Amino acid sequence: MSKVIKTLPKNCKFSTLSQLRAKVETQTVSQEPETPNLKIKQYQYGPLNEAQKAFLDRVIRVDQAGELGANYIYAGQYFVLQHTRPELKDLLKHMWDQEIHHHNTFNKLQVIRRVRPSLLTPVWRAGAFGIGITTALLGKEAAMACTVAVETVIGGHYNDQLRILMNKFQIDAKDLNTGEIINGIESEELNSLKKTIKEFRDDELEHLDTAVENDAEAAVPYWLLTEVIKGTCKLAIWTAERV
Ligand SMILES: [Fe+2]
Ligand SMILES: [Fe+2]
Repeated sequence: MSKVIKTLPKNCKFSTLSQLRAKVETQTVSQEPETPNLKIKQYQYGPLNEAQKAFLDRVIRVDQAGELGANYIYAGQYFVLQHTRPELKDLLKHMWDQEIHHHNTFNKLQVIRRVRPSLLTPVWRAGAFGIGITTALLGKEAAMACTVAVETVIGGHYNDQLRILMNKFQIDAKDLNTGEIINGIESEELNSLKKTIKEFRDDELEHLDTAVENDAEAAVPYWLLTEVIKGTCKLAIWTAERV
């Protein structure tokens, strides 16, 4: 990009405005290095359709409710296990801190995108805290089995969302540098949401591994406990997406 800078000739004496204009010399100064191909791509994205908007709202609502639930499950487990199994405090606190970060992130997204929270939020809070306390009272193994069940369902749930976000959210955009219309690209907002969900999915799967390493499968009865909690999580997801 270049800019024309007007300068007065040397020894210019002010006279009338028209004389002054006539004497003005022009010179061209380059403001930027000549690297036109390195321009930052800027797009103006087209709107999402109604189905895409509704899906995104559901994603934010259910993920916020789910992370709230996870936060409260760990709160319940920590409340009990910090006394009964103090050696687990650091481990539980690490996982709990990650859930708090997940929860805060979706709280912010909920405000930015103006998505109403699940109407059953008090139920999710009380239910999750209850599950955390109960499994922790059953013992360390039951608490870890609970984590296995929850993270199995949540990991799968995040993967389902990512599959849809990757396949059904291509929109048209205008390249603001060239004016060209590009078909089927993803907006920065969508990319950022996908990145967030992938990061959280990986955290959840790490929690699952940690729980298995900490004797989750020794819980009695493991199968019944995990299947009941998985069923509860699936029902909660289905409900939080809608209510
Ligand atoms: Fe989480
Ligand atoms: Fe988790």
